[in-house]
Amino acid sequence: MTTLPAATLSPLPRIIQGGMGIGVSDWRLAHAVSRLGHLGVVSGTALDTLFVRRLQDGDPGGHMRRGLAAFPWRRTAEAILERHFIPGGRAPGDPYRLLPMWRRRVSPDRERIAVAAAFVEVWLAREGHDGPVGMNLLTKLQLPNPATLYGAILAGVDAVLMGAGIPREIPGLLDDLAEHRATSIRLDVEGERGDEVRAEFDPGAHWAFEGVAPADGAGEGGLPAVARPLFFPIVASNSLARMLARKANGRVDGFVVEGPTAGGHNAPPRGTLETNARGEPVYGERDEVDLEELAGLGLPFWLAGGEGSPEGLERAVAAGAEGIQVGTLFAYAEESGLAPELRERVLAEVRAGGVGLHTDLKASPTGFPFKVVQIEGTGSSEEVYAARGRICDLGYLRAPVRRADGRIDYRCPAEPVDTWVKKGGRAEETEGRRCLCNALMADVGVAQERDEGAEPALVTSGDELLRLGRFLGERTSYRAADVVEYLTGGGAG
Ligand SMILES: Cc1cc2nc3c(=O)[nH]c(=O)nc-3n(C[C@H](O)[C@H](O)[C@H](O)COP(=O)(O)O)c2cc1C
Repeated sequence: MTTLPAATLSPLPRIIQGGMGIGVSDWRLAHAVSRLGHLGVVSGTALDTLFVRRLQDGDPGGHMRRGLAAFPWRRTAEAILERHFIPGGRAPGDPYRLLPMWRRRVSPDRERIAVAAAFVEVWLAREGHDGPVGMNLLTKLQLPNPATLYGAILAGVDAVLMGAGIPREIPGLLDDLAEHRATSIRLDVEGERGDEVRAEFDPGAHWAFEGVAPADGAGEGGLPAVARPLFFPIVASNSLARMLARKANGRVDGFVVEGPTAGGHNAPPRGTLETNARGEPVYGERDEVDLEELAGLGLPFWLAGGEGSPEGLERAVAAGAEGIQVGTLFAYAEESGLAPELRERVLAEVRAGGVGLHTDLKASPTGFPFKVVQIEGTGSSEEVYAARGRICDLGYLRAPVRRADGRIDYRCPAEPVDTWVKKGGRAEETEGRRCLCNALMADVGVAQERDEGAEPALVTSGDELLRLGRFLGERTSYRAADVVEYLTGGGAG
């Protein structure tokens, strides 16, 4: 079996368009950035559900089907279309059909949907140009990651970027997947008694299902030769960067250094938690990354979080970085996956100077601080959210927990309180938690329909949103290329 040499990015990009899940940095946004020669990044988070929902909506434009037509697993592609594609889309008000929730062991079919979804997203982002494409995943959402990364690798992803956890085993996983080898990752099981629990993934079993014996090797009728993508962990401290550079189970190729002003999830402050009058975490000197020390690791790095300006890029480069990773500015570009009505509402509020943003310590079931844009009628309002009955039916944020009888359960503090308590959780831990899985699906226009109405959205952004007016000016909308031009001053960057 042959493997292509590891992917390289030459020259290294000045701008990384940050991964924004679920589906905000979709293939369209990544494509728009990547064809300009910068690193466009698709979000791999919950991509399998997003993919089958697009198919159930009739796949407007035929993009999912175009990507699937290039997918090497023909049996799988046909089975997916048969089961999930609805010509013309669902009848109005019909709920989406759900995929089984992830567990340590899921059916091979379930795994293959994740592989196909990631393949299609990356394939579409790469279509018709040579620019580099990356995939972003959250380390903490462990179970779907191996299958998702394999799909991305089959489609030729150039880089993988992962934060929200300690991705110590991901470099080795990428090595295995690029060689089509069976592999596994260690699961973080709460209440673990010491024995290591691993989640396994074997590409060979899927190839065999497709009629290709792994022993056939690469080439004619065999396994495709693919490259090992570069791996860029997203870190918020020198100690994590150092640990990953030295102790990860394979090669780390660089870092994204993300500060607490970034959109989405943030690392919690170090030491004792202090909050301001609005209940938001307060960060101090000890949360700052020493860039000189980081540079000493000898790996390229990019700065993220409030760096989305020409001065931010200049500062980053002066501090020894290759460039910047930018999220918020791209999230509101026309090509982003954010539902147009949400984008327009937020941009209107930016223009009126009244946009509100809150770093919520409780909202995310992950336990990480999560920034929420205050938009009337969305889940950022207590009343709207309270009207939504607690329900957990996507389950990406469920964490494995060891039960007293030794079996593994999966739980999320945003699920119904009695269910959480039955699984050994304390009722207080459920307070203020939001079902991000369903809310973030709603953000990108694929809200689940319930008897009480569609799932409410919950939009996240970085502090940069509060300054977006400077870039927006009198415009009501802009494109990803405008962001790139603004950041690089119109030069090649
Ligand atoms: C809407 C939105 C969703 C995000 N989702 C993710 C995510 O899924 N994974 C991740 O690593 N970072 C996520 N981020 C962070 C971005 O990738 C990026 O690092 C950050 O936004 C940079 O800061 P800026 O917003 O000030 O430009 C998200 C940011 C936004 C605005």
